[in-house]
Amino acid sequence: MAKTIFLPFPMFALLVIFGAILSVNSLNITADQLNLLALKSYISHDPHLLVTNWSTSTSVCNWIGVTCGSRHRRVIALNLSNMDLTGIIPSQLGNLSFLAWLDIHNNNFHGSLPIELTNLHRLKYLNFNNNSLNGELPSWFGYFPKLQSLSLSDNYFNGVVPSILGNLSKLEHLLLYNNDFKEINS
Ligand SMILES: *[C@@H]1O[C@H](CO)[C@@H](O)[C@H](O)[C@H]1NC(C)=O
Ligand SMILES: *[C@@H]1O[C@H](CO)[C@@H](O)[C@H](O)[C@H]1NC(C)=O
Ligand SMILES: *[C@@H]1O[C@H](CO)[C@@H](O)[C@H](O)[C@H]1NC(C)=O
Ligand SMILES: *[C@@H]1O[C@H](CO)[C@@H](O)[C@H](O)[C@H]1NC(C)=O
Ligand SMILES: *[C@@H]1O[C@H](CO)[C@@H](O)[C@H](O)[C@H]1NC(C)=O
Ligand SMILES: *[C@@H]1O[C@H](CO)[C@@H](O)[C@H](O)[C@H]1NC(C)=O
Repeated sequence: MAKTIFLPFPMFALLVIFGAILSVNSLNITADQLNLLALKSYISHDPHLLVTNWSTSTSVCNWIGVTCGSRHRRVIALNLSNMDLTGIIPSQLGNLSFLAWLDIHNNNFHGSLPIELTNLHRLKYLNFNNNSLNGELPSWFGYFPKLQSLSLSDNYFNGVVPSILGNLSKLEHLLLYNNDFKEINS
């Protein structure tokens, strides 16, 4: 005999709210995968075939250079250092909202930095040393609340170093040498 179960109203409301939270939170590991595939598509030279390893047939958490969190199963670290990669940094990288560690040093990434990186609120470690990045150092660099280590040496950044870097209250380590920054004459 079929029986219809009527949920008491508060429980029904809770389920609706929970469902809404789930769908808003639809940025999941699948989104992380799409955003890393976007990064891959902007890499024009990969001599050691490392990023070629980034295939949809394996979980993004097994991809070379990618680390996922044990609790959230989201991408928390990206380490593409020393891979001889040539490419640009696409805005989609800013969608990796769980990223705490971003290391692309000793490659040949060029172009300027997309403002979407400012969405990486959990970032603690950023190392872009020794690439060919250029453009002015954007003032949004002052808005990483957890940033402890910022390394941008050996690039072609220019303009004035924004004073808002002084607002990075967790910063312990800052490397800016060998860029084209202007000296401020008083
Ligand atoms: C990620 O979200 C999409 C759509 O929101 C959903 O179809 C998919 O099953 C989710 N994937 C995982 C691994 O949770
Ligand atoms: C990528 O490399 C990882 C680690 O070496 C390996 O486990 C995985 O199977 C590789 N995936 C592909 C598609 O080659
Ligand atoms: C990052 O990757 C490089 C090269 O693959 C490796 O030597 C280094 O130990 C890695 N760093 C971390 C913190 O895992
Ligand atoms: C990812 O980022 C791009 C460009 O910043 C944006 O247009 C897109 O909607 C984002 N989507 C997901 C699912 O991450
Ligand atoms: C910079 O990276 C290149 C590889 O892209 C490497 O050959 C070179 O030794 C690195 N320079 C420094 C100062 O680490
Ligand atoms: C930077 O920090 C100072 C002192 O904490 C604060 O007054 C100022 O509003 C901050 N600026 C921005 C743009 O967050």
